[in-house]
Amino acid sequence: MAARRRIVAGNWKMNLDHAAAVALTKDVAAGAASCTGVDLVLCPPAIYLEAVASALQLADGSSPSGVTLGGQNLHDQPKGAFTGEIAPAMLVDVGCRWCIVGHSERRTLFGETDQIINTKAKAALAAGLTPIVCVGETLEEREQDRTAAVVTAQIDGSLHGFSAADLAGTVIAYEPVWAIGTGKVATPEQAQEVHALIRSRLATLTDAATADSVVIQYGGSVKPDNAAVLASQPDIDGALVGGASLKADDFLAIGKHFGAAG
Ligand code: PGA
Repeated sequence: MAARRRIVAGNWKMNLDHAAAVALTKDVAAGAASCTGVDLVLCPPAIYLEAVASALQLADGSSPSGVTLGGQNLHDQPKGAFTGEIAPAMLVDVGCRWCIVGHSERRTLFGETDQIINTKAKAALAAGLTPIVCVGETLEEREQDRTAAVVTAQIDGSLHGFSAADLAGTVIAYEPVWAIGTGKVATPEQAQEVHALIRSRLATLTDAATADSVVIQYGGSVKPDNAAVLASQPDIDGALVGGASLKADDFLAIGKHFGAAG
Protein backbone atom coordinates (compact mmCIF):
# COMPACT_ATOMS: atom_id res chain seq x y z
CA MET A 1 0.00 0.00 0.00
CA ALA A 2 1.24 3.45 -0.88
CA ALA A 3 1.97 5.87 1.95
CA ARG A 4 -0.70 8.45 1.34
CA ARG A 5 -0.58 12.09 2.37
CA ARG A 6 -2.68 13.05 5.35
CA ILE A 7 -4.89 16.07 4.78
CA VAL A 8 -7.07 17.78 7.38
CA ALA A 9 -9.26 20.57 6.00
CA GLY A 10 -11.38 23.03 7.95
CA ASN A 11 -14.71 23.92 6.39
CA TRP A 12 -15.74 27.13 8.13
CA LYS A 13 -19.05 27.19 6.21
CA MET A 14 -20.90 30.54 6.62
CA ASN A 15 -19.38 31.46 9.98
CA LEU A 16 -17.13 34.11 11.55
CA ASP A 17 -16.52 37.73 10.64
CA HIS A 18 -13.43 39.37 9.19
CA ALA A 19 -11.65 39.89 12.51
CA ALA A 20 -12.48 36.40 13.78
CA ALA A 21 -11.36 34.82 10.48
CA VAL A 22 -7.99 36.57 10.67
CA ALA A 23 -7.54 35.71 14.36
CA LEU A 24 -8.37 32.04 13.78
CA THR A 25 -6.00 31.89 10.81
CA LYS A 26 -3.15 33.36 12.85
CA ASP A 27 -3.77 30.91 15.68
CA VAL A 28 -3.80 27.94 13.30
CA ALA A 29 -0.66 29.17 11.53
CA ALA A 30 1.12 29.68 14.86
CA GLY A 31 0.36 26.11 15.96
CA ALA A 32 0.83 24.38 12.63
CA ALA A 33 4.45 23.47 13.29
CA SER A 34 3.21 21.06 15.97
CA CYS A 35 1.25 19.13 13.34
CA THR A 36 3.84 17.07 11.48
CA GLY A 37 2.99 14.62 8.73
CA VAL A 38 -0.27 16.29 7.81
CA ASP A 39 -1.33 19.05 5.42
CA LEU A 40 -3.65 21.61 7.01
CA VAL A 41 -6.12 23.43 4.77
CA LEU A 42 -8.44 26.32 5.65
CA CYS A 43 -11.67 26.84 3.67
CA PRO A 44 -13.13 30.17 4.82
CA PRO A 45 -16.16 31.93 3.36
CA ALA A 46 -15.15 33.27 -0.07
CA ILE A 47 -15.35 36.88 1.02
CA TYR A 48 -12.57 36.28 3.58
CA LEU A 49 -10.24 34.27 1.33
CA GLU A 50 -7.91 37.18 0.69
CA ALA A 51 -7.80 38.15 4.35
CA VAL A 52 -6.98 34.58 5.33
CA ALA A 53 -4.37 34.35 2.56
CA SER A 54 -2.62 37.46 3.79
CA ALA A 55 -2.83 36.33 7.43
CA LEU A 56 -1.00 33.14 6.38
CA GLN A 57 1.81 35.04 4.71
CA LEU A 58 4.84 36.96 5.78
CA ALA A 59 5.49 40.34 4.20
CA ASP A 60 7.62 38.66 1.52
CA GLY A 61 4.64 36.57 0.42
CA SER A 62 5.96 33.28 1.79
CA SER A 63 3.76 31.09 3.94
CA PRO A 64 6.01 29.58 6.59
CA SER A 65 3.26 27.71 8.40
CA GLY A 66 2.59 25.46 5.39
CA VAL A 67 -1.14 25.93 5.92
CA THR A 68 -2.91 26.25 2.58
CA LEU A 69 -6.18 27.69 1.38
CA GLY A 70 -9.30 26.27 -0.23
CA GLY A 71 -12.68 27.46 -1.46
CA GLN A 72 -15.99 26.03 -0.32
CA ASN A 73 -17.61 26.12 -3.74
CA LEU A 74 -16.97 27.26 -7.29
CA HIS A 75 -18.73 27.68 -10.63
CA ASP A 76 -17.89 25.43 -13.55
CA GLN A 77 -17.55 28.23 -16.13
CA PRO A 78 -14.37 30.33 -16.46
CA LYS A 79 -16.16 33.71 -16.64
CA GLY A 80 -19.29 35.47 -17.76
CA ALA A 81 -22.79 36.44 -16.75
CA PHE A 82 -23.17 34.29 -13.65
CA THR A 83 -24.15 36.77 -10.96
CA GLY A 84 -22.88 35.88 -7.53
CA GLU A 85 -20.66 33.02 -8.69
CA ILE A 86 -16.92 32.47 -8.39
CA ALA A 87 -14.78 31.10 -11.23
CA PRO A 88 -12.12 28.48 -10.51
CA ALA A 89 -9.33 30.79 -11.71
CA MET A 90 -10.52 33.46 -9.26
CA LEU A 91 -9.95 31.04 -6.39
CA VAL A 92 -6.46 30.34 -7.73
CA ASP A 93 -5.89 34.07 -8.11
CA VAL A 94 -6.37 34.70 -4.38
CA GLY A 95 -4.16 31.80 -3.37
CA CYS A 96 -6.40 28.73 -3.21
CA ARG A 97 -5.02 25.29 -3.97
CA TRP A 98 -8.15 23.33 -3.09
CA CYS A 99 -11.91 23.59 -3.40
CA ILE A 100 -14.64 21.61 -1.67
CA VAL A 101 -17.08 20.35 -4.31
CA GLY A 102 -20.49 18.82 -3.71
CA HIS A 103 -20.70 19.19 0.05
CA SER A 104 -23.95 17.65 1.28
CA GLU A 105 -25.24 21.14 2.09
CA ARG A 106 -24.68 22.09 -1.56
CA ARG A 107 -26.40 18.88 -2.63
CA THR A 108 -29.45 19.21 -0.37
CA LEU A 109 -29.90 22.98 0.06
CA PHE A 110 -28.72 24.17 -3.35
CA GLY A 111 -29.80 21.33 -5.59
CA GLU A 112 -26.38 20.17 -6.73
CA THR A 113 -26.56 16.87 -8.57
CA ASP A 114 -23.77 14.43 -9.28
CA GLN A 115 -23.67 15.83 -12.80
CA ILE A 116 -23.19 19.41 -11.58
CA ILE A 117 -20.57 18.22 -9.11
CA ASN A 118 -18.83 16.39 -11.94
CA THR A 119 -18.58 19.53 -14.10
CA LYS A 120 -17.41 21.59 -11.11
CA ALA A 121 -14.75 19.03 -10.16
CA LYS A 122 -13.47 18.96 -13.75
CA ALA A 123 -13.40 22.77 -13.83
CA ALA A 124 -11.44 22.80 -10.58
CA LEU A 125 -8.89 20.37 -12.01
CA ALA A 126 -8.60 22.36 -15.23
CA ALA A 127 -7.78 25.47 -13.19
CA GLY A 128 -5.11 23.64 -11.20
CA LEU A 129 -7.14 23.22 -8.02
CA THR A 130 -7.49 19.96 -6.12
CA PRO A 131 -11.21 19.28 -5.74
CA ILE A 132 -12.34 17.77 -2.44
CA VAL A 133 -15.35 15.83 -3.73
CA CYS A 134 -17.90 14.99 -1.04
CA VAL A 135 -20.16 11.95 -0.92
CA GLY A 136 -22.30 10.40 1.80
CA GLU A 137 -25.63 8.80 2.58
CA THR A 138 -28.53 10.18 4.60
CA LEU A 139 -29.81 8.49 7.75
CA GLU A 140 -32.81 7.15 5.86
CA GLU A 141 -30.57 5.65 3.19
CA ARG A 142 -28.38 4.00 5.82
CA GLU A 143 -31.38 2.59 7.64
CA GLN A 144 -32.66 1.17 4.38
CA ASP A 145 -29.29 -0.52 3.86
CA ARG A 146 -28.61 1.58 0.78
CA THR A 147 -25.32 3.16 1.88
CA ALA A 148 -23.15 1.20 -0.56
CA ALA A 149 -25.49 1.80 -3.50
CA VAL A 150 -25.85 5.54 -2.77
CA VAL A 151 -22.15 6.19 -2.24
CA THR A 152 -21.20 4.14 -5.29
CA ALA A 153 -23.64 6.09 -7.46
CA GLN A 154 -22.30 9.40 -6.10
CA ILE A 155 -18.71 8.33 -6.81
CA ASP A 156 -19.55 7.15 -10.33
CA GLY A 157 -21.57 10.27 -11.15
CA SER A 158 -19.30 12.84 -9.52
CA LEU A 159 -16.15 11.39 -11.09
CA HIS A 160 -17.61 10.51 -14.47
CA GLY A 161 -15.01 10.71 -17.24
CA PHE A 162 -12.09 11.17 -14.86
CA SER A 163 -8.73 9.91 -16.12
CA ALA A 164 -6.27 8.30 -13.73
CA ALA A 165 -4.42 11.63 -13.64
CA ASP A 166 -7.63 13.47 -12.76
CA LEU A 167 -8.35 11.05 -9.95
CA ALA A 168 -4.79 11.31 -8.67
CA GLY A 169 -5.35 15.06 -8.38
CA THR A 170 -8.60 14.68 -6.43
CA VAL A 171 -9.42 14.21 -2.76
CA ILE A 172 -12.60 12.38 -1.75
CA ALA A 173 -14.46 13.22 1.47
CA TYR A 174 -16.84 10.61 2.83
CA GLU A 175 -19.33 12.49 4.98
CA PRO A 176 -22.37 10.56 6.18
CA VAL A 177 -25.07 13.25 6.16
CA TRP A 178 -26.44 12.03 9.50
CA ALA A 179 -23.08 12.73 11.14
CA ILE A 180 -22.64 16.31 9.89
CA GLY A 181 -23.13 18.89 12.62
CA THR A 182 -25.06 16.40 14.74
CA GLY A 183 -22.39 15.19 17.14
CA LYS A 184 -23.11 11.65 15.88
CA VAL A 185 -19.84 10.42 14.48
CA ALA A 186 -19.72 7.22 12.44
CA THR A 187 -17.98 4.43 14.29
CA PRO A 188 -14.47 3.82 12.97
CA GLU A 189 -15.70 0.49 11.58
CA GLN A 190 -18.65 2.11 9.77
CA ALA A 191 -16.37 4.77 8.29
CA GLN A 192 -13.61 2.32 7.34
CA GLU A 193 -16.11 0.05 5.61
CA VAL A 194 -17.31 2.86 3.35
CA HIS A 195 -13.80 4.21 2.76
CA ALA A 196 -12.68 0.74 1.62
CA LEU A 197 -15.73 0.51 -0.63
CA ILE A 198 -14.92 3.91 -2.16
CA ARG A 199 -11.30 2.91 -2.76
CA SER A 200 -12.27 -0.31 -4.49
CA ARG A 201 -14.75 1.62 -6.64
CA LEU A 202 -12.00 4.08 -7.57
CA ALA A 203 -9.90 1.09 -8.67
CA THR A 204 -12.64 -0.08 -11.04
CA LEU A 205 -12.92 3.47 -12.46
CA THR A 206 -9.17 3.71 -13.05
CA ASP A 207 -6.64 1.23 -11.67
CA ALA A 208 -5.55 -0.15 -8.33
CA ALA A 209 -2.37 1.93 -8.04
CA THR A 210 -4.22 5.19 -8.67
CA ALA A 211 -7.00 4.25 -6.24
CA ASP A 212 -4.38 3.39 -3.66
CA SER A 213 -2.89 6.88 -3.93
CA VAL A 214 -6.13 8.84 -3.46
CA VAL A 215 -6.61 10.62 -0.15
CA ILE A 216 -10.05 9.82 1.31
CA GLN A 217 -11.08 12.08 4.17
CA TYR A 218 -13.79 11.34 6.69
CA GLY A 219 -16.15 14.14 7.71
CA GLY A 220 -19.00 14.41 10.18
CA SER A 221 -18.56 15.54 13.78
CA VAL A 222 -14.80 14.95 13.81
CA LYS A 223 -13.48 16.23 17.15
CA PRO A 224 -10.18 15.98 19.02
CA ASP A 225 -11.54 13.08 21.08
CA ASN A 226 -12.57 10.88 18.14
CA ALA A 227 -9.88 11.82 15.61
CA ALA A 228 -7.23 9.33 16.75
CA VAL A 229 -9.40 6.27 16.36
CA LEU A 230 -10.66 7.44 12.96
CA ALA A 231 -7.10 8.21 11.87
CA SER A 232 -5.99 4.69 12.83
CA GLN A 233 -8.23 3.11 10.18
CA PRO A 234 -6.31 1.96 7.11
CA ASP A 235 -8.38 3.83 4.51
CA ILE A 236 -9.07 7.05 6.44
CA ASP A 237 -6.41 9.53 5.33
CA GLY A 238 -7.65 12.78 6.77
CA ALA A 239 -10.66 14.74 7.85
CA LEU A 240 -13.00 17.42 6.58
CA VAL A 241 -13.87 19.28 9.75
CA GLY A 242 -16.77 21.65 10.21
CA GLY A 243 -17.63 22.82 13.73
CA ALA A 244 -14.31 21.87 15.33
CA SER A 245 -12.38 23.83 12.69
CA LEU A 246 -13.71 27.07 14.17
CA LYS A 247 -11.52 26.58 17.24
CA ALA A 248 -7.79 26.64 16.53
CA ASP A 249 -6.91 24.31 19.40
CA ASP A 250 -9.44 21.70 18.33
CA PHE A 251 -8.47 21.90 14.67
CA LEU A 252 -4.78 21.59 15.51
CA ALA A 253 -5.46 18.66 17.86
CA ILE A 254 -7.28 16.86 15.05
CA GLY A 255 -4.38 17.63 12.70
CA LYS A 256 -1.92 16.19 15.22
CA HIS A 257 -3.86 12.93 15.51
CA PHE A 258 -3.91 12.44 11.74
CA GLY A 259 -0.25 13.39 11.40
CA ALA A 260 0.73 10.95 14.14
CA ALA A 261 -1.20 8.12 12.49
CA GLY A 262 0.50 8.63 9.11
P1 PGA B 1 -19.08 18.93 11.22
O1 PGA B 1 -19.15 19.28 9.64
O2 PGA B 1 -17.64 18.61 11.52
O3 PGA B 1 -19.55 20.19 11.90
O4 PGA B 1 -19.97 17.77 11.44
C1 PGA B 1 -18.41 18.54 8.71
C2 PGA B 1 -18.66 19.04 7.32
O5 PGA B 1 -19.79 19.44 7.03
O6 PGA B 1 -17.73 19.08 6.49
